[in-house]
Amino acid sequence: MTVLDGKKTAQDLKEEIKTTVSEIKKSGQRPPHLAAILVGNDGASLTYVGSKVRSCEYVGFDSTLIRLDESTTEEILLDKIEELNQDDQLDGYIVQLPLPKNIDEEKILLAIDPKKDVDGFHPSNFGRMALEMDSFIPATPYGIMELLERYKIETSGKHCVVVGRSHIVGRPISILMSQKGPAGNATVTVAHSRTQNLTSLTKNADIIVMALGIPEYLTAEMIKEGATIIDVGITRVADENHPKGYVIKGDVAYDEVAAKAAAITPVPGGVGPMTIAMLLKNTLLAFQRKN
Ligand code: GUN
Repeated sequence: MTVLDGKKTAQDLKEEIKTTVSEIKKSGQRPPHLAAILVGNDGASLTYVGSKVRSCEYVGFDSTLIRLDESTTEEILLDKIEELNQDDQLDGYIVQLPLPKNIDEEKILLAIDPKKDVDGFHPSNFGRMALEMDSFIPATPYGIMELLERYKIETSGKHCVVVGRSHIVGRPISILMSQKGPAGNATVTVAHSRTQNLTSLTKNADIIVMALGIPEYLTAEMIKEGATIIDVGITRVADENHPKGYVIKGDVAYDEVAAKAAAITPVPGGVGPMTIAMLLKNTLLAFQRKN
């Protein structure tokens, strides 16, 4: 059984990016610059954004964290976005989701300049991705593709079941894995909350991507011997015995599934670190396309 080590792979990627950044600096250019807008005080979002900023510093990027109050209006946020769109010293930025309920997420995503949309959430980037044109690929599915490729997991002609149809993970990974190219050429089934008899699908899957958000949902009896399991779940589950008061759980019952699978991503240390590395990769790409 192979553990698909996202932590190590992400570290390898960061070292590659760091080398490229030092070459950019040596040539006299400014380094790539990523900004993140965080509205409010959601605990998980604070953790993710903090981690993104630290990773920027590690590879030598410039980074800017813009924190806005929970009570920020849509108008103020749109003004900020316009300012970032116009900023020549900035290559890419993200607006951390979820946003407070008074803000229309769709309106915000549409306002981001697609050339700076390193999350790849703008319809222009999503459409271009689906049409196999140059775009920014959303960091989580991009990270899964990179992990499958670097570990040489055979996907061509294989049956992949994606559980979850979110715009951030399930939908894009189902598109990417069915396309031509590395980690592609799979026959993809998208399952979701209305799917009947999920086990009949997962039992026949060579690869399962779990992006449901329900802790330890996928059990050993739901998979076929020798399957590859990608766990995108990161749910905080209350645990009094832990200093933080919670533990992070994936969508997969890890121990029993790992005993039957050929390859599996752990949680934490699987898909999560890859997401951050691919955001850095997209930012470098935004910089290179501009220059
Ligand atoms: N919230 C959860 N995942 C993401 C992500 O990849 N990007 C942004 N902007 N928000 C998120």
